[in-house]
Amino acid sequence: MDLDKINLGKKLYYKEETGSTNNDAFECETAADGCVFVAETQTGGKGSRGRDWNSEKNVGIWMSILLYPKLPASDIAKVTLTAGMAVCTVLRNAGYNALIKWPNDIVTDGKKVCGILTEKRAEKVVVGIGINVNTESFAQELKDKATSLFISGGKKVEREPLINLIYAEFERLYGILKDKGFSELRPKYAELSATLGKKIKVIQPNESYEAKAIGITNNGELLILHDNKEEVLCSGEVSVRGIYGYI
Ligand code: BTN
Repeated sequence: MDLDKINLGKKLYYKEETGSTNNDAFECETAADGCVFVAETQTGGKGSRGRDWNSEKNVGIWMSILLYPKLPASDIAKVTLTAGMAVCTVLRNAGYNALIKWPNDIVTDGKKVCGILTEKRAEKVVVGIGINVNTESFAQELKDKATSLFISGGKKVEREPLINLIYAEFERLYGILKDKGFSELRPKYAELSATLGKKIKVIQPNESYEAKAIGITNNGELLILHDNKEEVLCSGEVSVRGIYGYI
C-alpha cells in the first residue's frame, strides 16, 4: 500500500502484518478518536459471531476506526449500520452495484464483498471494516457466498483512494448520526437495502422461520411480517438469509 496516497486528516497506524486491526485499535493507548488502523494482512482476522475473517495479504482493505463515542451502548449497532452505508455508498459511486444485506454485509452480484465488525470495550468502540478488493478467487467453501471488487468489476482496484473515500463518508454520516440520530439516515439506509421487500429466512439458535422484510426502524432493527404479525429483529440476535440464496 502506498501510504502517501492515504489522506484521512487523522493519524493512520499501519502494519504489514498484524493479528487483528480491531485488537490493535483497542490496545493502542495513545490513539485518539477517529484514528485508523490498517494492515496488509491479519493472521487472526475476526468476523462476526466469533468466526474467522480471511485477510489475504495485499489484496484487501482491513481497517479499523477507533471511536470514543458518547452514545449509549444500545446505540452501537447504529454505528455499524452507518459504516455499512458509507462503504455501500462509496462502492456505488465507484460503479459497483453494491447493496446492504441487513444489518451490515455489503453485497455485489448476490455475494458478500465487505463485512463489518463493531466491538466495544470500556469507552472505546472499534469499527472494523473488511473489504475483498483484489482477491482473484475464493476457497471452495466460500465461492458461493463471497466475492471481491476485482471479481465483480473485472479490473484491479487501487485501495488507497477507497480508504480515503470510505473514511470521509463514514465521518460525514457518523456526524449526522451523532447530531440527529439514525432516523435521519434511515431513508438512505432503506434505499441501499438488499433485504427490504424480500422473503427471508430468520435463523435463531433454536428455530428458523420464513418471513418478509418490510421495513427498518428508527433504531436500525428489521421490521418483518411473520405469520401476518409485525415483529422487530435486532441485529446480533438473529441471522437473516434470502429464501433463494445468500441475500
Ligand atoms: C463479518 O464477519 O462480516 C465481519 C468482518 C470484519 C472484518 C474486519 S477486517 C478489519 C477488522 N479487523 C478484524 O479482525 N475484523 C475486522
